[in-house]
Amino acid sequence: MSKAGALDLAAGVGGKMEKKDVLNAVEKYENYHGGEEEDKNANYTDMVNKYYDLVTSFYEFGWGESFHFPHIGKGESLKESMKRHEHFIALQLGLKPGQKVLDVGCGIGGPLREIARFSLTSVTGLNNNEYQISRGKELNRIAEVDETCEFVKADFMKMPFNDNVFDAVYAIDATCHAPDALGCYKEIYRVLKPGQHFAAYEWCLTDAFDANNLEHQRIKKEIEIGDGLPDIRSTHQCLEALKHAGFEVIWDKDLTIGAPVPWYSPLESQFSLASFRLTTVGLFFLRYMVKALECVGIAPKGSQRVLSFLERARAGLVEGGKKEIFTPMYFFLVRKPL
Ligand SMILES: C[S@@+](CC[C@H](N)C(=O)[O-])C[C@H]1O[C@@H](n2cnc3c(N)ncnc32)[C@H](O)[C@@H]1O
Repeated sequence: MSKAGALDLAAGVGGKMEKKDVLNAVEKYENYHGGEEEDKNANYTDMVNKYYDLVTSFYEFGWGESFHFPHIGKGESLKESMKRHEHFIALQLGLKPGQKVLDVGCGIGGPLREIARFSLTSVTGLNNNEYQISRGKELNRIAEVDETCEFVKADFMKMPFNDNVFDAVYAIDATCHAPDALGCYKEIYRVLKPGQHFAAYEWCLTDAFDANNLEHQRIKKEIEIGDGLPDIRSTHQCLEALKHAGFEVIWDKDLTIGAPVPWYSPLESQFSLASFRLTTVGLFFLRYMVKALECVGIAPKGSQRVLSFLERARAGLVEGGKKEIFTPMYFFLVRKPL
């Protein structure tokens, strides 16, 4: 089970970095987003790693072990919908017991453990963030899946695997961090066995996004800074990149379209017991708690600033969702030809 108390949150801000370095890291992270786009893309490893060092304990506090948005059914709890969202990808991939599966950008391994147990497969979690990997290993031991599942610390743009080794590959809310979709999909194509499938949920701009609309541009920027992202791509750019990488597209769909419950509702509700830590009221309490913990020196200096950019992310995501200019679940299932 994930640790999720206030003191754990405070102690975890900054991940593996020295607590005295946290404020400096926040400033550097914010500068990436205030500067040139090329700078952010060229330094994507540092930008994304700083982001996850700073936010992972907040994510774990708010979301638990899985760091993704789910497709929510009517009357379904957030926890149920998270699991269903993960099972859906396993079902689409047609996973069979004993298969060797790759989870690209695996976070602390919530989906990895769920999918491995659901499908009786061995899942390798690929992640470039050392702190998340150390949390994931601890949680795998507790869940007793450490014999069959492992973590590999590496960049998904340069994977340390031979060609044609995985029976299936999936990515959940992760490849949006790639500085270049084509480069990332080509690596996935390379390590996947011929005839096998790759499925993902991508964060994308929709057709309703208008690049000349200043309001749309502002919302896009808020999501990028609040979520550690490079320039967000459109669904069409992702689809084109998949085809260029060599994949055959089986099907693709923005799963937010026609969803029974808006995907951003856990962030928007004023008060919800099920997702209290994600709501505006939950964040209000969290802000005071983090302030107090920072004042007494339990949370490192800079923790409140981390919470501020997470609040910007929350607001940007809700606005982007309401205007339907952004989706966190552009789903696709593709196949590497034989
Ligand atoms: C929003 S989290 C999603 C985590 C996980 N898929 C889940 O649903 O819980 C994005 C993940 O992608 C990882 N990531 C981002 N860029 C990466 C890169 N270049 N190589 C490997 N992992 C990366 C981050 O460290 C983080 O674990």
